[in-house]
Amino acid sequence: MKRLMPLLAFLGLLALGQSPGAKLYSANCQSCHQATGQGLPGAFPPLTHLDKVVQAKGGREYLIRVVLYGLQGPLTVGGTTYNGVMPPFRQLRDQEVADLLNHVLTTFAKSKAKPISASEVKAQRAKALSPQDVLKSRPPVK
Ligand code: HEC
Repeated sequence: MKRLMPLLAFLGLLALGQSPGAKLYSANCQSCHQATGQGLPGAFPPLTHLDKVVQAKGGREYLIRVVLYGLQGPLTVGGTTYNGVMPPFRQLRDQEVADLLNHVLTTFAKSKAKPISASEVKAQRAKALSPQDVLKSRPPVK
């Protein structure tokens, strides 16, 4: 037990050190997009290109919609085509969706875009979109 103490203390610090966005990512997104945000080629797209998406016209709204309404239909990222189904995460609060996206953007996509706010999420929640509608609103970023 004595030998385990430093390890336990270290793990405790790791858990404490996780931001709300990081915790939400582990709990909701990691199983498909992987711990590194690299995805699985052909099955789950990476999230590392999202700086280009968030900077494009309509990109902020699109990213929020993907989380709230899910995504379905053919999509090409980094030369690989995906045609899968991402489930919606409407159960997350506005602030949680913002924290989650800001974590993904700053960590995996190294983005310096203005952080997404809870009120931007609220504005997108007021719509009733299908996962196919969400794909139609995607900016043309490869
Ligand atoms: C069950 C697996 C699964 C989970 C869990 C999941 N996703 Fe996805 N995600 C996908 C799939 C599959 C696609 C591509 C859908 C398609 O082909 O139309 C996708 C696409 C995306 C895209 C669009 C990328 C682009 O370039 O347009 C974003 C952003 C995204 N996911 C973020 C998230 C976030 C954030 C979470 C956690 C809340 C999450 N995903 C959870 C499977 C998943």
